[in-house]
Amino acid sequence: MIAKTALITGASKGIGKELSKIHAANGDNLVLVARSEEQLRLLKKEIETQYIFIKIEIIVKDLTVINSAKEIYDELKVKNIQIDYLINNAGFGDFGLFINTPWSRYQQMIDLNITSLSHMCHLFLSDMVLRKHGKVMNVSSTAAFQPEPMMAVYFATKSYVLHFSEALNNEVNDNGVSVTAFCPGPTDTHFMEDSNMKKSKLIKNTRLPSAYKVALSGYNAMMTGRSVKVFGFINKVVAYSVCIFPRKWVVSITRKMQ
Ligand SMILES: NC(=O)c1ccc[n+]([C@@H]2O[C@H](COP(=O)([O-])OP(=O)(O)OC[C@H]3O[C@@H](n4cnc5c(N)ncnc54)[C@H](OP(=O)(O)O)[C@@H]3O)[C@@H](O)[C@H]2O)c1
Repeated sequence: MIAKTALITGASKGIGKELSKIHAANGDNLVLVARSEEQLRLLKKEIETQYIFIKIEIIVKDLTVINSAKEIYDELKVKNIQIDYLINNAGFGDFGLFINTPWSRYQQMIDLNITSLSHMCHLFLSDMVLRKHGKVMNVSSTAAFQPEPMMAVYFATKSYVLHFSEALNNEVNDNGVSVTAFCPGPTDTHFMEDSNMKKSKLIKNTRLPSAYKVALSGYNAMMTGRSVKVFGFINKVVAYSVCIFPRKWVVSITRKMQ
């Protein structure tokens, strides 16, 4: 059987790192993308030691930089590497009042969470549709289901990812290709520190699920071609129940909870 190849962005830590290990355990070759070269090299070595037949490419790339998605696509074309699974996982948030955070931080968030993710889909989905084969997972969040004061831009970017992925899935599904919007809730990763979430009352004294458990749920959802997968029963109840309350209530309750 010919091995398949998974491209995973944000593979250096957290959910992306665990997704990389899960794909390797299932016999897939890997293309690992992130900014931290050292972390990627360590992960490559760890996986290669465990699974000697897995081929791993490392691409060190800042995905907020314009055209970084095209550079990745072109590099893989030159190396004749076909992508069977595209996982757009890299992303970050920021906790705080909108006007208290420099615009440059939001610009980068939009560039990463929205622009680069969409550009990657545009490039790789075209090939998948031509081949009538391939799967995409876009990592959204339970944040996608509601507006959230103190994280206004991040929540809005994740709503984009959810709606964008659902629409794409409908467009490509007849061609044997699927797009899954994966929506984890709070998870034990570097995200909490990098996004200043430790200041939020929402996650204080809360036991968070491990990145592995969350990644495995996302992997299974993508492999079965699910359109949307929310991780965890409580997250599911909260995510889908917000639509039965007046929107004004939802916004003010979440502000109080923060
Ligand atoms: N943890 C949570 O509570 C949670 C909940 C819901 C959704 N999510 C989503 O899950 C995804 C993964 O997050 P995580 O929790 O695993 O966080 P994490 O541990 O902070 O990992 C984020 C990954 O994204 C990469 N990344 C960040 N900025 C990048 C850039 N400019 N260019 C390329 N790569 C970049 C990081 O690598 P480098 O720093 O090496 O570049 C890292 O590998 C994100 O989309 C996040 O929004 C997380």
